[in-house]
Amino acid sequence: MKQPLFIIVAIDGGAAAGKSSTARVLSERFNLMHADTGSYFRALTAEMLRRGVSPGDLPAVRAALADMKLATRIASRSALIEIGGRLIGSEIRSPEVNAAVSHFAAIPELRSVLLEYERGQAAVARERGFRGLVMDGRDIGTVIFPDADFRFFLHADPAERARRREKEGERDAVAERDRIDSSRKTAPLACPAGATSIDSTHMTLQQVIERMASSLAEALGQT
Ligand code: CDP
Ligand code: CDP
Repeated sequence: MKQPLFIIVAIDGGAAAGKSSTARVLSERFNLMHADTGSYFRALTAEMLRRGVSPGDLPAVRAALADMKLATRIASRSALIEIGGRLIGSEIRSPEVNAAVSHFAAIPELRSVLLEYERGQAAVARERGFRGLVMDGRDIGTVIFPDADFRFFLHADPAERARRREKEGERDAVAERDRIDSSRKTAPLACPAGATSIDSTHMTLQQVIERMASSLAEALGQT
């Protein structure tokens, strides 16, 4: 197989399915820039909450979006989002953000701002000399990069995923977020056609990583 010069890897799945942990390891192993798009939706949500904007108030959401200047800061291989020159810190994982993020993520105007930003990250990764981009989220293989070179869909029992989040010390209604994310009209959570679907309920993180890494290594002629 002819080696592509620059690869795009899309990883989608429900809450706590293991997307960011696997993406992080793949980014190190294959020198890819890692974009955790869930953290972008969370950062925008934290900023909306800081400004006192509720997801039901569309005019206020639109005004806030128009006022948010987005940029990217690279830390090691992670592409972090800056809003108005500022990185949003640990508050992106607060119970308030956990509860509000899916409601903001269902707003088409907010999604279209992030769609443009996320597509632009392929150019950022190229400029910075990465071999490619690994992006994880809910709509990466379906909407953002439907032509990605590799598309994975991770899933696991909701009870197992809630247990994983609890182990991380987080209070998070993963099943409720999945319900909202899967039923929204714009870019719902769904397995992209032709994606490699992996059920990790009974797999360790390492096993999931090896399964994904072996597909990449095989296609890239790297063992
Ligand atoms: O870490 P976890 O899987 O729990 O969630 P996340 O990846 O941080 O994403 C937080 C929320 O952002 C999701 O529940 C979705 O509502 C939204 N999201 C989205 O709509 N589209 C994406 N590509 C990524 C996240
Ligand atoms: O990004 P996403 O919300 O999909 O999940 P994550 O933050 O990568 O993973 C959530 C937690 O589940 C982490 O603590 C992982 O180490 C853990 N995990 C696991 O125990 N077994 C797996 N097969 C996958 C993830």
